Amino acid sequence: MEVIKAVIPAAGLGTRFLPFTKAVPKEMLPLLNKPAIQYIIEEGMASELNDFIVVTSRDKQAIVDHFDPNLELELQLEERGKTDLLASLKRITRIANFTYVRQAEPRGLGHAIWTARRCIGKEYFGIFLPDDIIISKTAAMSQLIKVARQEKASIIAIAEVPVEQVSSYGVIGIKKQITPNLYQVSHLVEKPDQKDAPSNLAIIGRYVLSHKIFPALEEIQADKNEELQLTDAISQMIHNNEKVFAVKVQGIRYDIGNPIGWIKANIGCALQDPQMAPHINKFLQDKDLLDIFMYSPSKIFENQL
Ligand code: G1P
Repeated sequence: MEVIKAVIPAAGLGTRFLPFTKAVPKEMLPLLNKPAIQYIIEEGMASELNDFIVVTSRDKQAIVDHFDPNLELELQLEERGKTDLLASLKRITRIANFTYVRQAEPRGLGHAIWTARRCIGKEYFGIFLPDDIIISKTAAMSQLIKVARQEKASIIAIAEVPVEQVSSYGVIGIKKQITPNLYQVSHLVEKPDQKDAPSNLAIIGRYVLSHKIFPALEEIQADKNEELQLTDAISQMIHNNEKVFAVKVQGIRYDIGNPIGWIKANIGCALQDPQMAPHINKFLQDKDLLDIFMYSPSKIFENQL
């Protein structure tokens, strides 16, 4: 089974990040020095995907520009001998292909995926939800593709979450547990009340799906908010006799769709960076930090690099 394309729904308004998102797409929020969406593309490339279909909306031009070659900048870096920086900039533009499709109206995640239907043939394809950043030794998407090949079926990434949090996620019902980390899915419920949740295994923003998701998306009804849910379409696909599995991926997952999750992601990534880690550790351990910031300008200076 070949999986070479991925759909990245990036049309959301980013209301949880207003006012930042008034003029800048939330996918361009930085994680250390890179926009969050670049982590997604790099995870895709590490999983041998090279066709990215980005579903956008108005005011998302910065994403398009970010992945376009910037010849003037490249020339300047070359002249200044900044070859490493130049190579890292060129790596993505040389290998990855980008197609942008517009979601004209905000009708939910299922509708965003459906918008990309003409770019996908009779094949399995990946989906990355860009609010979910997964830092792992083996790229999360490639963990999914491996299982998709083994089971010849659609795969969803899941993680165990505390039961009080199930109402923030799509949750799987278990048909059969195959190994400690792999389940066959019976159905899915989008953001259930705690009492109605079929498990505490939540979808975490990575999928490998059969193209049969597209007819399933046309079969389902919109929810009470007039949105088409991807989880409902996956349930429909199971109902149409497609097998769907869910795998617990190895890695650390951050939900950067809200400011607290984004700050945690920045701290977590900084602590994994050998150059930054000692400074951030020192910063976090300094109990008097707030006092220092408020009352002693000279100490602020000591606290800098
Ligand atoms: C979406 C999906 C949900 C999934 C979640 C993971 O919800 O609809 O099934 O569990 O992403 O982050 P959202 O967080 O966009 O509301």
